[in-house]
Amino acid sequence: MAALLALPAAAIPKKRPVYTDPSAPIEQRVEDALSRMTLEEKVAIIHAQSKFSSAGVPRLGIPELWTTDGPHGIRPEVLWDEWDQAGWTNDSCVAFPALTCLAASWDPEMALMYGTAIGEEARYRGKDVLLGPGVNIYRTPLNGRNFEYMGEDPYLASKMVVPYVQALQNNGVAACVKHYALNNNEVNRHTTNVILDDRALYEIYLPAFKAAVQEGGAWSIMAAYNLYGDEHLCHNKRMLNDILKGEWGFDGAVISDWGGVHDTPQAIANGMDLEFGSWTNGLSAGTRNAYDNYFLAKPYLDLIRSGKVGTDELDDKARRVLRLIFRTAMDSKYGYGSLCSDEHYAIARRIGDEGIVLLKNDKATLPVDVAKAKKILVVGENAIKMMTVGGGSSSLKVQHEISPLDGLRAAVPADVTVDFERGYVGDVTGEYNGVTTGQNLADSRSPEQLIADAVAKAADADFVIFFGGLNKSAGQDCEDADRAGLELPYGQDAVIEALAAANPNFAVVNISGNAVAMPWVKKVPAIVQAWFLGSEAGNSIADVLLGAVNPSGKLPMTFPVALADNGAHATGSYPGVKRADSHIVDLEYKEGILVGYRWHDTKKVKPLFAFGHGLSYTDFAYGKATADATEMAADGTITITVPVTNTGAREGEEVVQLYISDPKCTVMRPAKELKGFAKLKLKPGETREAKFTVKADDLSYFDADKHEWVAEPGQFIASVGAASDDIKSTLKFNLK
Ligand code: GLC
Repeated sequence: MAALLALPAAAIPKKRPVYTDPSAPIEQRVEDALSRMTLEEKVAIIHAQSKFSSAGVPRLGIPELWTTDGPHGIRPEVLWDEWDQAGWTNDSCVAFPALTCLAASWDPEMALMYGTAIGEEARYRGKDVLLGPGVNIYRTPLNGRNFEYMGEDPYLASKMVVPYVQALQNNGVAACVKHYALNNNEVNRHTTNVILDDRALYEIYLPAFKAAVQEGGAWSIMAAYNLYGDEHLCHNKRMLNDILKGEWGFDGAVISDWGGVHDTPQAIANGMDLEFGSWTNGLSAGTRNAYDNYFLAKPYLDLIRSGKVGTDELDDKARRVLRLIFRTAMDSKYGYGSLCSDEHYAIARRIGDEGIVLLKNDKATLPVDVAKAKKILVVGENAIKMMTVGGGSSSLKVQHEISPLDGLRAAVPADVTVDFERGYVGDVTGEYNGVTTGQNLADSRSPEQLIADAVAKAADADFVIFFGGLNKSAGQDCEDADRAGLELPYGQDAVIEALAAANPNFAVVNISGNAVAMPWVKKVPAIVQAWFLGSEAGNSIADVLLGAVNPSGKLPMTFPVALADNGAHATGSYPGVKRADSHIVDLEYKEGILVGYRWHDTKKVKPLFAFGHGLSYTDFAYGKATADATEMAADGTITITVPVTNTGAREGEEVVQLYISDPKCTVMRPAKELKGFAKLKLKPGETREAKFTVKADDLSYFDADKHEWVAEPGQFIASVGAASDDIKSTLKFNLK
């Protein structure tokens, strides 16, 4: 006390410095703070100080920055220096559906709700940067992390990522859109050097990131592990300086994937702003977590002190990190969020309800009519296995997770029984980085016995539902590895065939983030794609299977019949070729722009289920598409309208899709490309119009030679439909 009294009056600050004033313009705050920082303080804030945090400036009262995984929910606390659990008891969260489910809803309103809810959870947990969402394009169905992303089409991913970013950041939590870019498989993710032409880069792999930056206003971007042009994405001149910061005007911070930085001079010059990692030289054990040895730490400081490099790049990095801090940690206007609220669970359930896709439903097998079906048999490990633990960095410690079996049991009337048979044993582990499921999934029965036991009960059940698919273990839907093939693992096909033979009232629910082969597709009357739905999984699944909710999801990726039907595999491109006497694997995207349905339509390869496919418990009739003009000026627009009627007996939602074709063009173009969609809710008998305003941008391709988007005058075809392989109406128009 005495010391304070001794201070001369002038020393007690009267006016708070500008950088501490949240109402001051952010650029003023940045410059004011920067001008007060020492060289050491600037270097300190551009690299990690712990597993998930970077330093602030204690002397100036600038707080440290806290990041958290992941795109589906807020990761539990880990120890300062470890991946393992800190063992807190207040860090359980809500697991929201995987982003493939969000994309499958084809409803930007869902993305807005998603970003709001997950932003409130992050804010409440004191996190400044959410390490997500991921928007890497679904190029191969083997990619272990497709479940974290938004499908195969750049237009759909762009429309769905923007509201998520806006709503998340509206909580004062930065999005960190990942993994920028070309991280489209997990095998060799640190050493794959992607080779592709600029048309594929600009038309397929960049648009969702560009939309997140330019429309979503993303405050940070995570640079990926892989290489492009022989430079790691974490310090890639073209991708970070020329395109992201140059062409797109990104003013946020580029954050490295963990251990993605490998070179100090490149990291200085090529746009890396905030280095995170696992150990000193990235991922190896190195000098355990000596953060001062990070590439942008002491090695950088030494180069500056020795006069070998200047401080211009350092100031730019520090400005971007300060901007990130002022937009998040140092802006109290956003309130304090909320955690595990009823609203968040309701949002998780709603997104699950909207994203589940009804793939097949012969003879109106679904919904299960519980007035007749009094004995339901549920078969399959995925009816009981927790899916919120595992999968890699998106793994969570949830407050609860409703399994499909539990969801069904809770939803059926009292006079209906729901029995269970394992059917198959897949993955019995239940732990990831110290988070355990608490389930004991051990079962000593042989596969034959498991099937026999299930078939015995199936014979006298009124309805049989099989829950299978993939899970979050390595080699399934999981980070840092890819699947070995398209087939369902663990002998599930045999179980499905046996059950189909035992009872015609049968439905298969596939829980996965990836397409799977379905050799039994003709023998199963009803098939549902149910994604990884998080905490409310069982409730959403019961909502749809029992008919409380009319399914309205549409596939955000193609389900090929066989792997060779997919462009990345038909061309022999995947998984790439290891370079002689180098650890680098060259992976050329030989299919170019023909990714997903672009490949199937153009090469006329019939898919098992098409991009945009999804059925309903009601029926929709499409009227004729009309346009407000037959000709469009280069700077003009054309509006295409199509009436849709609910001709069935119950309310439903239909995702009306608009595809554009450019039949005569000087360059090769896909048969058609998604350029619009609208989700219409229709009561029985109701007719509403889907309206699409098409502008020249929607008609253009990327001209690599001119390095600009070009829409060639001439005839275009607009196709309106319920799926990429279910076009209801087309019309022609001319671009002048
Ligand atoms: C992981 C993932 C990235 C994650 C980060 C932190 O390697 O690639 O998505 O956010 O490291 O866990």
